[in-house]
Amino acid sequence: MQLKTSICLFLILPFLAFSCAMPVRVVEKSSINRVISVAEQQYTKMLEANKNLTKYPRTTNIDGNTKYVGIRDWTGGFWPGGLWYLYDFTKENQWKDAAVRWTESLEQNQYNTSHHDIGFMMYCSYGNALRYAHSKKYEDILVQSAKSLIARYNPVVKSIKSWNTKKSWAENTWYFPVIIDNMMNLELLFYASKKTGDPVYRNVAVNHAETTRKNHLRNDYSSYHVVDYDTLTGKVLFQQTNQGFSDNSQWARGQAWGIYGFTVVYRETRDKKFLNTAREMADFYISNPNLPKDKIPYWDFNVNQAGYKADWKYDASKFNYIPRDASAAAITASALLEMSHYLGIEGKRYRNFAIETLRSLSSPEYLAEPGTNGFFILKHSTGSFPHGSEIDVPLVYADYYFLEALLRYQDKLSF
Ligand code: GLY
Repeated sequence: MQLKTSICLFLILPFLAFSCAMPVRVVEKSSINRVISVAEQQYTKMLEANKNLTKYPRTTNIDGNTKYVGIRDWTGGFWPGGLWYLYDFTKENQWKDAAVRWTESLEQNQYNTSHHDIGFMMYCSYGNALRYAHSKKYEDILVQSAKSLIARYNPVVKSIKSWNTKKSWAENTWYFPVIIDNMMNLELLFYASKKTGDPVYRNVAVNHAETTRKNHLRNDYSSYHVVDYDTLTGKVLFQQTNQGFSDNSQWARGQAWGIYGFTVVYRETRDKKFLNTAREMADFYISNPNLPKDKIPYWDFNVNQAGYKADWKYDASKFNYIPRDASAAAITASALLEMSHYLGIEGKRYRNFAIETLRSLSSPEYLAEPGTNGFFILKHSTGSFPHGSEIDVPLVYADYYFLEALLRYQDKLSF
C-alpha cells in the first residue's frame, strides 16, 4: 500500500509542481466589463447613425467615418451577429430588438448563389438568432441558405466553389477557385443536415473539408489562400495566396479561418484527423517566430522588412510600418477556446494563448475610445494589404469574433 502511494506521489508531484509553476491566465472581469461598456457605447452610436436596413457597417472610410456595404457583401451577417452577442452579455431587450431587425433584413440572401459566403452571412445572423429565439421561419431560411450553398458544390472537385470565375488582381484566370476562408461556411451545412435529417449537406461539408486538408495545407501546416481546380479532372491547377504577401507566405487571417474551420468540422464529425489539422495549424500560428509579443499578428507572417512589394498597384510604401491584423487574432482566439475544450490537459496552452490574445485586444492599444473608430470596437485590422484595401482599420468581423471569444471565455456559448 505504502509503496503504491509513493509511486503515485512520484508520478504526480512533478506534474503538480509544473502546473503550479504555470501562471494562471485570466482576462480580468474589469477588462471584460470595459469591453462591453465600449461595445454598448459604440453600437448605440452605430444604430443611431444609420437606420437604413440595406446599409451594413463594414469598416471605415479614409475620413474615419463608417463605411457601409450592401446586402450581397460577404460581411453583412457580422453586424446582426455582434448585436446578438451584445444581447447575450447584457440581456437588454434593445440589443435583441436591433439584432432581430438586422437579422431579418438579410432574408433574401437565402437564395444567393453568387458566392460561397452565404454561411458567414446567414449563420452568423440567423444561426445566432436561434440561440435566443425559436423560430420555424429562421430554421427554414437557414435550410434554404444551405441549399443555395451546395448549389456551388462540384462532385468531381469535391469542393464548393468560392468565387465566380474572374481574373484575379494578379491577372491569373481562375476556373474553380476555392479559398481557405470557405471552411467557415461549413457550419451552416452541418446545421441543415441536423435540422432536415438529410445527409446531403453534411456530406458536402465533409468532402469539402477533406479536399481542403489535402490541397490547401503545406507541410508545415500553413495554408495557401486560393486553390484553383480543373473541373473535368478535379486536379489542382495552381495554389496561390491572393491576400497574402506572396503565394508561399502565410496570410494571417487565412491561418485563422483554417484553425476555426477545422475545429468546427471536428465538433460536427468527431473525426480526430480534423482536430489534428486544426491543432497543427494552431501550432504554426502560436509558435511562429514572427508573431509579435502581444500575440496580434502582422497581416502576413512572412512580410519582408518593408512590408510591401514594389510591383503592387498602389503606393504601399506610405506604410512605414507593418500593419497588424486584429481580426485574425480575434478569430484565432475564439477558435482556440473551442479547440482547447477538446484537448483535455493538452488544451491548456491553446487556452492560455487565447487569453493572452484577448488581454491584448482588450487593452487601449486595440480597444477603441468610445465615439471614435467609426463606432467599431476594435482598431488595427487589415482586409487585404496587397490590394491596398482596408489597411490598419476597424473591421466588423474583428468585433464579431472578439465578442464571441469573450463569451466563450466566460463559458456563455455552448459549442
Ligand atoms: N473572406 C474574406 C477575407 O477574409 O478577407
